[in-house]
Amino acid sequence: MSIVDARRFVDPDAYKSLGYPHPEWARLRRQAPVERLAVDGWPAFWAVTKHRDVVALSCQPSLFVNAPGIALERDSRQSAHQMRSIINMDPPEHAEYRAVTAPWFTTAALARIDDVVTETARRLVDGLGLEGECDFVERVAARYPLHVVATLLGVPESDEPFLMEVTREIFEREEIAQSEADYAGRNREMFFEFYSYFSRLMEDRRSRPRDDLATTIATARIGGCPMGRMETLAYGLVTVTAGHETTRGSVAGGLLALLERPEAMARWAADPSLTATAADEVLRFVSPVVYMMRTATQDYPLQDRIIRAGDRVLLFYASANRDEEVFPDPDELGLARRPNPYVALGVGEHACLGGRLARRMTGALLEELVGRVEWMELAGPPQRVAANMIPSLASLPIRYRMKRPAESRRVR
Ligand code: HEM
Repeated sequence: MSIVDARRFVDPDAYKSLGYPHPEWARLRRQAPVERLAVDGWPAFWAVTKHRDVVALSCQPSLFVNAPGIALERDSRQSAHQMRSIINMDPPEHAEYRAVTAPWFTTAALARIDDVVTETARRLVDGLGLEGECDFVERVAARYPLHVVATLLGVPESDEPFLMEVTREIFEREEIAQSEADYAGRNREMFFEFYSYFSRLMEDRRSRPRDDLATTIATARIGGCPMGRMETLAYGLVTVTAGHETTRGSVAGGLLALLERPEAMARWAADPSLTATAADEVLRFVSPVVYMMRTATQDYPLQDRIIRAGDRVLLFYASANRDEEVFPDPDELGLARRPNPYVALGVGEHACLGGRLARRMTGALLEELVGRVEWMELAGPPQRVAANMIPSLASLPIRYRMKRPAESRRVR
């Protein structure tokens, strides 16, 4: 008999109706930090919940590999997560693929789109008007990262609704699909539509190269040869989707945490220099990516347990980020927290390629927002997506009155 209800960790509906299982993770961290769990209809898995173990396993990418899959899938379902994208590759080929787009995500490269980030944040907050009621996810959080990533990629704003649909199909299909057959059918359809769209985009950039991320992917060479067709498609899919659902989660989850702690929101508004540490703290606190899965390639002793070759291992970032041995008052939102060795963006070989951009986007939007709020409250219960890996907020109803833009900037 397990000390926790393992379904809480894998059932998408449990995340939707009950939220993150923080009390259950805390129990595992205390009593069984490396625990083998089984849930009917799902493959058995190891739950790794302590910060030190998540870091240790992440830093051994040849022993704990990504290729077999990074998401625990019901039965033997195959989804877009399982395509051969950089996130599903292992050493040594992973590094070569990652190097293709890495130059776009350095501090220097990102400085080039910093104005886009700031302007997009400002435009979306302006769009809320001076007072009213809306769904913050629909009006702001979902549009924001999509627009920034689309700009980086070099695709027109008119393509954004399509890219939004693709992302929803991948991350929210659990909810959208009416049945297992519908789930599989939608998977094929989404794949086909994205394939057609992206193939046209790649063709265009090969014949008319530009200074954008799409051109870099279209003209990439691996081992001296052009990147394969499916690998190019998978690269595109990861680039479009990896930053979208996640940043939407950090921005909306960050606002929810601030609405629940008005004193923290007032503190940030009064002192915008907090943004650097506050953005990191929001990422730690929200942990938009609950876990990533690894598969052991050989037997491996961890604490007092032995993980066997072939076993699935879930690295619970959301639990490691609340590890009381690493973070004092882990359930508090400490906007000035430092040091803050959080793992929300992964660690080691696969650490988030867009991590700098994610931190910048999260900080820029929330800084702009808190500086403009006169008052804001929840206008209804927030809803989560039914998903076990990125169960971000599907809606966050808010009611508010905002300061006039000029007024708020003068005060700051
Ligand atoms: C709050 C926002 C974000 C969060 C929480 C997040 C989280 C993560 C995590 C946990 C991983 C590690 C995967 C693993 O270890 O297997 C990852 C990988 C990755 N992320 Fe992010 N991410 C965010 C934003 C972004 C953005 C904005 C982009 C790019 C536009 C991006 C692109 C990627 C890519 C390409 C990878 C794969 C890296 C590799 O396998 O080498 N992410 N992300």
